[in-house]
Amino acid sequence: MNINQFPQVRLRRLRQNSTIRDMLAAPLPGPEKFVWPTFVVEGSGIKEPISSMPGQFRYSIDTLLEAVGKLIATGVKSVMLFGVVGDNDKSCDAAYAMRDDGIVQCAIRALKKSYPDLLVFTDVCVCEYTDHGHCGITNEHGNVLNDPSLELLARMAVSHAKAGADVVAPSAMMDGQVQAIHRALDANNLTGTILMSYSTKFSSSMYGPFREAADSAPGTGDRKGYQADIRDLNSALRESELDEAEGADILMVKPAMFYLDVITRIKQQTKLPLAAYNVSGEYAMLIATADRGWGDLKMMVRESIAAMDRAGVDIFISYWANQYEIMFND
Ligand code: PBG
Ligand code: ZN
Repeated sequence: MNINQFPQVRLRRLRQNSTIRDMLAAPLPGPEKFVWPTFVVEGSGIKEPISSMPGQFRYSIDTLLEAVGKLIATGVKSVMLFGVVGDNDKSCDAAYAMRDDGIVQCAIRALKKSYPDLLVFTDVCVCEYTDHGHCGITNEHGNVLNDPSLELLARMAVSHAKAGADVVAPSAMMDGQVQAIHRALDANNLTGTILMSYSTKFSSSMYGPFREAADSAPGTGDRKGYQADIRDLNSALRESELDEAEGADILMVKPAMFYLDVITRIKQQTKLPLAAYNVSGEYAMLIATADRGWGDLKMMVRESIAAMDRAGVDIFISYWANQYEIMFND
């Protein structure tokens, strides 16, 4: 076949006006596909702006309920909770994370009481609650110990599920965490709780704004010993494969925008739903560009969503979810 079919073939025919363009365009994903990640703190009347993430706040439960009411009115019906606590509540074993009266557990109960149809996701990782900021138990050399950390993650997930979380989402990147959490949920008769694994989570430089928001940066060292290496595609693919074998209900790639190829490949190797976490650094990057006058925020956000959608994302975990004007309003 002759590839060059010009002048018979002219692609511009189908781009002549917005009516034909709109007819041929795939619609952007609607609000029902989005999960809003947000931060909750103890206290009341608090809505503290997060400087590294304009448009995002640390909420106390009362102001969170208000914000979620507005969210639901725009059609977004899912949130993902991160707890932020003071240094007094941090310890080497992250004991606060498993407390049934902890801030996340209380927020889950309050949200489900006010909004029974809201889907509440929780992040299951201890780095917000350890004094050293790592995602598990460490030894005297500061190395994160895998198997002892599983126990913490399992107890934390059970505590969230008991409080009413619909989806628990382990993000610690410990080997065997999906299996450990499943067993613990089953042992507690919590067989209906959905398990969304942060299955392919890279050791990325794009988590900076979040670590400021959640006060969860490691005190010393980094997370390269447990999160996936950005340069190793095979191990990244195996991460999701193994979590599927361990019984994850939903897989995830994180970050999203820099890993569209990984999203597409994992989508091809699984029949599970696939989430993508459009992380804090990716969010901040577009805002910073718009702030300098170098791009239109709404157009950039929508272009990035279209890219993730084409790559094969089913569930978008995105800080844009609470910004109806940018996301869903034409
Ligand atoms: C906790 C966790 C992190 C993020 C989600 N869960 C931080 C990290 O791994 O250091 C990052 C989210 C974001 O950057 O938006 N393990
Ligand atoms: Zn962590």
